[in-house]
Amino acid sequence: MTRGLRVERLAVRGAGGPIVQEVSFAVQPGGTFTLLGESGSGKSLVLHALMGTLPEELQASGRAFWGDTDLLALPQRQRRALWGRELCLLPQEPWLALDPSMRAVEQVSEVHRYVRRKGLGAARRLALAGLAAFGLDGASGRRYPHQLSGGMCQRVALATAQVGEGGLFLADEPTKGLDADRVEEVARGLQSASAQGQTTIVVTHDLALAERLGGEVAVLLEGRLLEQGPVSRILTAPSHDYTRALIGALPANWPDRPRASSGGSPVVVGRGLAKTYEERTLFAGLDLEVPAGEIVSVTGASGCGKSTLGNILLGLCRPDHGKVWHQPGVARHRFQKLYQDPPSSFAPHLPVGRGYTDLAKLHEISLGSLSPILDRLGLAGSLLERLPGQLSGGELQRLSLARSLFLRPLFLFADEPSSRLDPLAQQRVIQLLDELAEEKRLAVLLVTHDEAIAAKISNIRLRF
Ligand SMILES: Nc1ncnc2c1ncn2[C@@H]1O[C@H](COP(=O)(O)OP(=O)(O)OP(=O)(O)O)[C@@H](O)[C@H]1O
Ligand SMILES: [Mg+2]
Repeated sequence: MTRGLRVERLAVRGAGGPIVQEVSFAVQPGGTFTLLGESGSGKSLVLHALMGTLPEELQASGRAFWGDTDLLALPQRQRRALWGRELCLLPQEPWLALDPSMRAVEQVSEVHRYVRRKGLGAARRLALAGLAAFGLDGASGRRYPHQLSGGMCQRVALATAQVGEGGLFLADEPTKGLDADRVEEVARGLQSASAQGQTTIVVTHDLALAERLGGEVAVLLEGRLLEQGPVSRILTAPSHDYTRALIGALPANWPDRPRASSGGSPVVVGRGLAKTYEERTLFAGLDLEVPAGEIVSVTGASGCGKSTLGNILLGLCRPDHGKVWHQPGVARHRFQKLYQDPPSSFAPHLPVGRGYTDLAKLHEISLGSLSPILDRLGLAGSLLERLPGQLSGGELQRLSLARSLFLRPLFLFADEPSSRLDPLAQQRVIQLLDELAEEKRLAVLLVTHDEAIAAKISNIRLRF
């Protein structure tokens, strides 16, 4: 039976006070509801409160009726019994959703087998069909997460988390870092699940996805619901300034780039680069130069080798053929990488600030240079005291960028640096990279799935 969800005055509090402030909304049975809003505004916490997966130090209050059942009033054991059957969460970080020691197809089939009680053969067939629905073939299914690209892991996690008919599916940024074709596949997957009676809440920074999914949307800012209604109305006639600013910050609306070519000499050069994994050739005979003061952007489909190219240019991965040259006489730590998955940059059990103090000591850099960087990224210094798991996806992504910039890089390989950010925060981050390219002659290799960002920001582009 398909059910709807009615959320009444849902709040989340921590030791420091309220984080999410009494939000109310309803999702029709089989309907789609999209949460948009500022990075750090509480979107993921709303999903965790509904699922029953908030960290211990946070408490939820209010009501959330799933049919006649108030999810928030259920004892944890009873709510847990719904996990995977009636209630599924796709967490924001596929990094945290997948088991590194299992092949993709096994992870999906395990859910069908042990949670939904299917037989071995049926579970495997369902798993392969689920992966195929998100554009992953049998060969990808046989790989382990570390052998898949970030976007492919993202899609494996999606196939694992789909709950199907009669369930409530909570998807936290299901399309981040995916190219337009893959976004379309995910949108189609979500819509067909909805047609079969799955009720869905999607958190996304992608306004085009919200429009594509239809249904209702709500906009969150600083823990409050600013406005909600049909997506067609909110995106074309928003009543709140923040929503207008959010729409105005979409890359397509950025001013055209006034800056001419930097004329800088190359900092990193790749010549005749080739890389093949198993039988698949990612690239061959590829030449690329990243000059000082320039943002070179790389775009292309999920899994096409963008991150691999960046890793080769940094010397983290060997090419099958070709050579990489780095500007000589520069300390190794001034060639930096911003990882695609923010949690992979931090030790889970140490406050994030520890990473900076250790680096400051090691490289004799004054900690004082950190706070202007945090300011420019829109981050409060108090966030440094938290553990990585106590920060939002977008906060962690910007803290990871701050750490790279703190080391005064000459070259930065920025792998999807705004994939966890709302359009305003994204514009701020990309603008900062552009300013640093101009002020400090920083050379940037920018991997992005967003053609509009690449077009607005780069004089030199590589399209796979
Ligand atoms: N365990 C925690 N303890 C204290 N504060 C927390 C904890 N977890 C999250 N927060 C804070 O609560 C706020 C909301 O977090 P949440 O993850 O819901 O944001 P979000 O809207 O999903 O942001 P993003 O779009 O960046 O993912 C953030 O400022 C975050 O730092
Ligand atoms: Mg989030």
